[in-house]
Amino acid sequence: MPKVLVAGGGGREHAIIRALLRSPSKPEIICAPGNAGIAADVEVVDIAADDVQGLVTFAKERECDLVVAGPEAPLVAGLVDACHDAGIPCFGPVQEAARLEASKAHCKEVMIAAGVPTAAHAEVRTVEDGMAAITGYPTVIKDDGLAAGKGVVIAQNEAEAREALTAFLVDRIHGGDLVVVEEFLDGDELSLLAICDGDTAIPLAPARDFKRIGDGDAGPNTGGMGAFSPVPGFGLEEAERLVKEVHQPVLEEMKRRGAPFHGILYAGLMISPKGTKVLEFNVRFGDPETQAVLPRLKSDLYDLMLRSTRRGGLEGAKLHWDERTSVAVVMASAGYPESSRSGDVISGLESLPEGVEAIHAGTAFDPDGNTVTAGGRVLAVLGMGERPADARRAAYAGVQTVTFQGSQNRTDIAAQIAGDE
Ligand code: AMP
Ligand code: GLY
Repeated sequence: MPKVLVAGGGGREHAIIRALLRSPSKPEIICAPGNAGIAADVEVVDIAADDVQGLVTFAKERECDLVVAGPEAPLVAGLVDACHDAGIPCFGPVQEAARLEASKAHCKEVMIAAGVPTAAHAEVRTVEDGMAAITGYPTVIKDDGLAAGKGVVIAQNEAEAREALTAFLVDRIHGGDLVVVEEFLDGDELSLLAICDGDTAIPLAPARDFKRIGDGDAGPNTGGMGAFSPVPGFGLEEAERLVKEVHQPVLEEMKRRGAPFHGILYAGLMISPKGTKVLEFNVRFGDPETQAVLPRLKSDLYDLMLRSTRRGGLEGAKLHWDERTSVAVVMASAGYPESSRSGDVISGLESLPEGVEAIHAGTAFDPDGNTVTAGGRVLAVLGMGERPADARRAAYAGVQTVTFQGSQNRTDIAAQIAGDE
């Protein structure tokens, strides 16, 4: 039985683990550090997801056949490179390729070199240069570095633009000193992820993510408050076409740079009547897109991940998908996204309607063995259905069942595709 170490402890990692548990390869799974839901499914070990040395030492000791990095932090910190040095296959890009996500300016440079359509931009290091680079409002101000979804501000006027530039460049709230000022694009967003083996990118089923905290896309950006898949109008053929236009050129460019891209290349796309443009690339699975996408995957995820670590290993691979729609609704703790409250007891998890799943994110056990909140996004409730409306109804029936103090969730996830709006 192959042995896998999964690094991370969020909803994305719980969804990855559930999909690995369904793999015909039947891997034994260990997760570092996991959460309460993951601990109920597989063995967990108390190593932080970005403790590269700790993870490699553990993977060697336990003779793991594959290490899987869930979040970006271990990839940016060089987990794949360190695993290679130790002779252990690791799912994801090497550190040099992970810079696509670690630096927005670098990502733009690669996109332009690769000929990938993206918004016009300027790189600035002072507030005045930033203000001078703005050509109209709204405008988009992005901190160059990793900021857990909090590094992008859509400024509606001069005052908001100046405030964002000052926060990023003078107060340096994310620690960096470089900002990308970008043309605002209007349209519908699409998360198009592809699994890559250095040479080829194979699309996963497209998903739509809901980034704002409030219904109708009101309020501040979050890590993501829900997702659904498939997305009407973006079937697998269209996904194939987009991947050829967007992901494949980046793979060619990364080969030219001597850092072939392995793992998940996630394109955040803006689809507008004026065409499709790339907002950003991430170098790992999306959260919460993964909670909606992987439950639909019928292929062997362990096998795909292992093959993606080998140059050209995915040649001829074909992914199979459940035709049903999946809807994942995130339940967040009080105060999110500005803050989050921990330690509230979560009840109702045992009474979820049949076929409805809770995918855990910020959860832990208290000393009495209760499952309690332990982070901003607490869990996602997943519903599946033949029709979008069935999936949405199932997910929200689950949300009604689960309770904890101060819980918040959007009520409009997948409403558009379910025909309720
Ligand atoms: P990013 O981290 O670059 O994906 O940005 C986070 C979110 O900000 C995106 O999912 C969009 O909702 C929004 N965003 C980023 N860039 C733009 C843009 N050029 N035009 C409009 N919205 C954007
Ligand atoms: N859901 C957005 C992300 O994973 O970056």
